[in-house]
Amino acid sequence: MAGFQVTTEDQGTSGNPLTLTGGKHMRKALIAAALVWLYGLVQAQSPPDARKTWNDTYAALAAKNEPFLPNPFLTKMVEGKKPGKALDIGMGQGRNALMLAERGWDVTGFDISDVAIDQAKAQAQKRGLKVNAVVADGNRFDYGTDRYDLIAGIYVHGEVTDHSQDLVRALKRGGMLVVEGSHREAAPFGYEPNELLRAFVGRLTVMYYEDAIGQPDGTWKVPGKDLRFVRFVGRKE
Ligand SMILES: C[S@@+](CC[C@H](N)C(=O)[O-])C[C@H]1O[C@@H](n2cnc3c(N)ncnc32)[C@H](O)[C@@H]1O
Repeated sequence: MAGFQVTTEDQGTSGNPLTLTGGKHMRKALIAAALVWLYGLVQAQSPPDARKTWNDTYAALAAKNEPFLPNPFLTKMVEGKKPGKALDIGMGQGRNALMLAERGWDVTGFDISDVAIDQAKAQAQKRGLKVNAVVADGNRFDYGTDRYDLIAGIYVHGEVTDHSQDLVRALKRGGMLVVEGSHREAAPFGYEPNELLRAFVGRLTVMYYEDAIGQPDGTWKVPGKDLRFVRFVGRKE
């Protein structure tokens, strides 16, 4: 695992297999920009409204038949790790949960959007993978105690920091929390400066922290536009 890092240099584009060109590039840019705007809108909504908005988003995304490419940072963080029990918070269509299941992890994922969960289940079945995908609101989810070896919070924001105590309790000793998301400078719902550090320092050992500018994730990036993002890895001792 790379060391502790705080930088504003572009860390994310090198070797990114998701770069697109021409009309497809433009279409992807428009979809990504719309998703960033939509996510901000949803953050201000009550859960039933948020569910409906995300359901509409995922129904539209399914029609576009975009590939289920996992988050590169999470993929790197689990490389060579012995699989165990994992929780994927706000799993969406399950791109990360499926990547973990493929690597032998026993994955539970939840999302407020039943449309996203149906899509995740359909993908799992198509690929012959087992994922425990459940429709749940993170504000009511039973995180449990000493339950997971890995918790992933990828492009979910308040869902991570509002539940920092729950997440730490849910991790087993030696378990790891992996987070990547937008910085507040890039999106109104994103992490404030050092927000993840404030939420977890003293509760988890910080293994990695990055505050940088780039395009770290093919699904949630706006092609051609570098955005400030945050990454965090913490371990429960
Ligand atoms: C930007 S998407 C990220 C999805 C997925 N983690 C990924 O990386 O592709 C944010 C997700 O959080 C989910 N979400 C938003 N609020 C939630 C809540 N209160 N409880 C559970 N899921 C929620 C949305 O439905 C959406 O799927």
